[in-house]
Amino acid sequence: MSIQDCNIIDLPRITDPRGNLTFVEANRHIPYDIRRVYYLYDVPGGAERGGHAHKALHQLIIAMSGSFDIHLDDGCAKKTIHLNRSYNGLYVCPMIWREIDNFSSGAVCMVLASDYYDESDYYRNYSTFIIDVKKTVK
Ligand code: TYD
Repeated sequence: MSIQDCNIIDLPRITDPRGNLTFVEANRHIPYDIRRVYYLYDVPGGAERGGHAHKALHQLIIAMSGSFDIHLDDGCAKKTIHLNRSYNGLYVCPMIWREIDNFSSGAVCMVLASDYYDESDYYRNYSTFIIDVKKTVK
């Protein structure tokens, strides 16, 4: 898998003068079951989150409110995506180094994850991540 597999998913939108509604269904709008939801909020100006990769975890990242930038790196290529719509989700496949920054005031970053929290699924060190990426490419 590479950053070419990491794309914006345009989620369904039920627009209504009373307020809009968006929903996400596991294995329909995203290619996995959802086992965990977490969110980042009260992020101070200038803060950076992420700075890691996952071995097996799939994620959908949604800007529920406000905006932020997500920098993706699969060890070969990089791309940056600005998320600012609550009906868009960025699908991030396993083995992608990600950093999130440029949070707007009041931004809320929600993540729909394919598995429970497991520290052993993380690469916290970029060099170790790159060594393992090169092994799988060979
Ligand atoms: P981390 O994944 O490094 O946060 P981010 O990618 O947003 O910068 O997690 C920060 C801390 O929170 C770390 O100590 C692990 C803990 N944590 C949990 O206990 N459960 C979770 O579901 C997540 C995502 C993190």
